[in-house]
Amino acid sequence: MQLMKKMAPMRYEAHRLPIFPYTRNPCSVWGVLVDRFSPVSLDAYTVNHASDKRFAGDRTPVKLHKKERGNIEIESDIKGGKRKYSTFVARSVSHRYFSSFANSRLSGSVTLKSSLVQYFTNEGEGARKFVGHFLLISSAMVFGLVVLGGLTRLTESGLSMVNWNLLHFTPPKNEDEWQEYFEKYKEFPEYKLINQNMTLQQFKFIYYMEFFHRVYGRILGGFFAGVSIPIILSKSLASPGTKKVLGLINLMILSQGLLGWYMVKSGLDKRIVENNEWPRVSPYRLAAHLSSAFIIYLTMLIKGMSVLRKPIVFETGVETIKRLRSFKMSNHVLSGCILITAITGAFVAGNDAGLVYNSFPKMGDFWVPPEVLYLEPKWKNIFENSATVQLIHRWLAISTGSGILAVWYKSRKVPLPNRVRFAMNLLGGATIAQITLGITTLLMFVPVSIASLHQAGSLVLLTSSSYLVHLLKNIPK
Ligand code: HEM
Repeated sequence: MQLMKKMAPMRYEAHRLPIFPYTRNPCSVWGVLVDRFSPVSLDAYTVNHASDKRFAGDRTPVKLHKKERGNIEIESDIKGGKRKYSTFVARSVSHRYFSSFANSRLSGSVTLKSSLVQYFTNEGEGARKFVGHFLLISSAMVFGLVVLGGLTRLTESGLSMVNWNLLHFTPPKNEDEWQEYFEKYKEFPEYKLINQNMTLQQFKFIYYMEFFHRVYGRILGGFFAGVSIPIILSKSLASPGTKKVLGLINLMILSQGLLGWYMVKSGLDKRIVENNEWPRVSPYRLAAHLSSAFIIYLTMLIKGMSVLRKPIVFETGVETIKRLRSFKMSNHVLSGCILITAITGAFVAGNDAGLVYNSFPKMGDFWVPPEVLYLEPKWKNIFENSATVQLIHRWLAISTGSGILAVWYKSRKVPLPNRVRFAMNLLGGATIAQITLGITTLLMFVPVSIASLHQAGSLVLLTSSSYLVHLLKNIPK
């Protein structure tokens, strides 16, 4: 009863809203009937007063879950155009309340918008949250795909599927088919040069690894396109800027698939046998494929965070702002360094450069191995000479790591909000873990588990630095 009293003014206000602009054009009325005995179910009716019948017309029952009871938005069709009206609490709406609408002189149809529909409209926070969560979920899926791709490479499974059919979604169905696929694989360099003793059982394992990697990639591409394209085409679900980013990510995913195909193709080239080379994919293409995965991941993550959450507002004095500004600047620079270090790591992986000079801090007996400039032209050493590639990666990683820890140390004296402090600590911790994993990977001759953790660690590092940069967005330049 108390609730009813409380809601009374709202009732009239809501009443006035739809009717006021349309009294001269009697095409719309709306009403809601709430079954008091089961308050979770709420029905909307079409009311047609021209024929003076209270509940004439179509009836559109709408079931609401308990938690959805509360604000319900009503939308009515007015001359083809849709109008949304104010919200009110379903529980307070009574039969009598309904009658007061029914007694009006207007007629028309009523559509009840459930809170699900409301969730997708721009007025609510829903659309923003939906797009933001979608981007973060997609980035988590990319994280998983990168790890799976890393495992595929580390188990040397990437060249097991020698055909490329976009619509091929099932592995071989029976033993005959397996044998057929195995025979096909035997025609290619990897089998001829290094896997001559492979059994069918071993082939099945490497085939499944690559198969799941490809299928996962397609599911991710389909999922992203399936959700983002309707958002792009919608009128109000996302801002024009966000729609552009979604379109761009779709293109990046598509090119990532093509790049994957182009990369695998380089390892299947039959000239590898003629030239007696080591059967592996081009380090450039592998690095491009991995770096592009990082960029897709970061684009989803950064956009997701900025759609979802407002960065912290810093309100402090001039002196503190100066320190915060320098803190922000350092973090920007360090984020760039982490990305470059990760890309150099992709070249270490692409050249199998983790299998030479397995000692730390020195490389064998040297700080700088003698063959670092062995290849001609000289620039090729940066990308193709295992010793040089590893030298660059390890010292860039150590410098970046030291930079992060130095900023962490300095930041202890800067008055930081709790969330920023947490992000900085996370970045510091992830750095120590990542360097430890890198050194362990090297000293243990690249075991699959540690190397895979080292790869995932680079994504954790990129995530925490992006989070930190996001939180610091509002510090003025
Ligand atoms: C900021 C720190 C570091 C980052 C962001 C980083 C990042 C990466 C990335 C992205 C890869 C490619 C992973 C893959 O595709 O499997 C990689 C590979 C590698 N990194 Fe690091 N790394 C760091 C520190 C180090 C350190 C300090 C060492 C050792 C001295 C190291 C040694 C290696 C080795 C041996 C590989 C090749 C592993 C393989 O073949 O899978 N890394 N790193």
